[in-house]
Amino acid sequence: MPEVPENLKGRDLLSLHDLSPEELTAILNLADELKEMQKKGEPHPYLQGKTLGMIFQKSSTRTRVSFEVAMYQLGGYALFLSAGDLQLGRGETIADTGRVLSRYLDGIMIRTYAQADVEELARHAAVPVINGLTDLTHPCQILADLQTIREHKGRLTGLKLAYVGDGNNVCHSLLFGCAKTGMHISVASPEGYGPQQRVVELARQDAAATGSRVETGVDPVRAVSNADVVVTDVWASMGQEAEQAERVKIFTPYQVNANLVRHARPGFIFLHCLPAHRGEEVTAEIIDGPRSVVWDEAENRLHAQKAVLTLLL
Ligand code: CP
Ligand code: NVA
Repeated sequence: MPEVPENLKGRDLLSLHDLSPEELTAILNLADELKEMQKKGEPHPYLQGKTLGMIFQKSSTRTRVSFEVAMYQLGGYALFLSAGDLQLGRGETIADTGRVLSRYLDGIMIRTYAQADVEELARHAAVPVINGLTDLTHPCQILADLQTIREHKGRLTGLKLAYVGDGNNVCHSLLFGCAKTGMHISVASPEGYGPQQRVVELARQDAAATGSRVETGVDPVRAVSNADVVVTDVWASMGQEAEQAERVKIFTPYQVNANLVRHARPGFIFLHCLPAHRGEEVTAEIIDGPRSVVWDEAENRLHAQKAVLTLLL
């Protein structure tokens, strides 16, 4: 078993803002070690006999499969719990659900709408709660993103990441992830679609400790200029399907395409959490092109989450 810090045992993972830079780095280091062990075929059953419940109130491909496989490879067991099939869907409270599930499970992962619901669950659950995406944040995704950037660039501190598009959950967690690791981040979104100001302010507080610069604005060229990493995400997130057509019109100048990435550094890498809409937020030429690392990024969900599970459960 690799050396792991004990201070994460029993904790929740609700937002990257809650982790210290050292804790975040410890997760990434363990993720790298677990990836290497898996590639070499070395067994790593650190969660033998442990069980994770996974509550989903929204769709998922990567999060569901990577958490389930993660528990299996760690020697534990994962249960898929569709929110619609739980009594939660018929009005049982989040608090009671958390209290009861804690009597069976060693950890709970939840994907839902309101961040406040995840916080409520964590308050009442006696076991660690892991945020598998809310409307506000997506911490597990950004752990995989940071692992991927470090693999391809050899470091995080001092790099510049450009996020072009909707100031959504992925953007918010990137703000925290960059600020905690000393990466500079520049966000460009249409007027009125930028990241929430309170998230930007908290990220700036985190950035003060690491020397990271946090910029937000409306100019995609400015954001992408000299970027080492270019990131985008869908223009309409889960729950915003009704706004899709209107958003396509507003966001079209924010497409990541060959013309825009001319302004990035020549060795830049492109990330997207997926699922992607080719021809909307990114062209096929970029996402399927030589600078794209999206498949490594998707794979790293598995390794990064194995690290989180090993440390928390
Ligand atoms: N990136 C991500 O979270 O994908 P899923 O919605 O498929 O889980
Ligand atoms: N912002 C997207 C991310 C999907 C993984 C959404 O919330 O739908």
